[in-house]
Amino acid sequence: MLVHAINNAAYEFASDVRAGLTKLGQKELSSKYLYDDVGSALFEVISHLPEYGLTRADERLLQSHADEIVQRLDAPVAVAELGSGSGKKTRYILQALSRWQRTFYYPVEISRSALAMCERELSDIDSISIVGFEREYLDGLLEVAAHRQRNQHLFVLFLGSTIGNFDRVAGTEFLREVRSILQPGDSLLLGTDLLKPESQLLKAYNDEVGVTAAFNLNILARINRELDANFDLKQFEHISKINREARSVEMHLQSKRRQTVRVPAADLRVEFEEGETIWTESSHKYLAQEPFEMAKTAGFICQAQWIDEQWPFAENLFIAQ
Ligand code: AVI
Repeated sequence: MLVHAINNAAYEFASDVRAGLTKLGQKELSSKYLYDDVGSALFEVISHLPEYGLTRADERLLQSHADEIVQRLDAPVAVAELGSGSGKKTRYILQALSRWQRTFYYPVEISRSALAMCERELSDIDSISIVGFEREYLDGLLEVAAHRQRNQHLFVLFLGSTIGNFDRVAGTEFLREVRSILQPGDSLLLGTDLLKPESQLLKAYNDEVGVTAAFNLNILARINRELDANFDLKQFEHISKINREARSVEMHLQSKRRQTVRVPAADLRVEFEEGETIWTESSHKYLAQEPFEMAKTAGFICQAQWIDEQWPFAENLFIAQ
């Protein structure tokens, strides 16, 4: 029985927290809950860290190839972005498009503050209309598709290797669902972080300043804030580790001692052993040929790929078949 009157989103959060923390074996929390206002701001800082080159690689590719990318699209296009974040790197694509057409840009974001930041960041671009959707990705994309005009193609941006936060099977399934909302000739620009040496990956997900640690620990602080829990953040440590089989980097929160935590709004009392972890995120890394296979399985073809040499990262242009 829930003791607090809570709305739908909070109910879902409470029930996911309950399911994840009572799971037999490995306890887990979904990485989507890392992104409340504090988490989104911390992620923005991560993207500036010297150890974390992913966002800069993504941005360099868009800056260098935006014209070439948009010239490959069937005009006119409306742009939908899944997880726009601050919108900074999207500027290059929107500017390239606005040289050809008036552009509708639909950012889809679960974080209200990120959406507001993105609207502020991009509103100065000529010939652009921005309509944000504060929704989960597929719900938002469905709404965008419902708004499309008859002659318009949709160009979906899924940047920053967010696909890597799904496991491989779920990632391809997600692309298949995106495809089911699109029409033949619509396109998807997919950012994928490529495999790199383990030492480099471990540093990228456990930076010296401790921003990634704060980003990870904030999920417990969020449970305290929103579900009245009593996690003592000093009794948990951020760790990152490589999963070779999955080709991923995992973030965990490790309990420093045996302890009991209460989460009243999830009607939950949970015991932690010393050293036990909560798995909060996986970031899968890709081989350069993988996006071609993912495209095919999901009903697209990968028409072009651009790779950053400084920080191996690929931008992949998928066309819906
Ligand atoms: C958003 N996502 C692609 C980031 C990543 O690299 O998996 C989130 C992140 N987690 C830790 N650092 C950054």
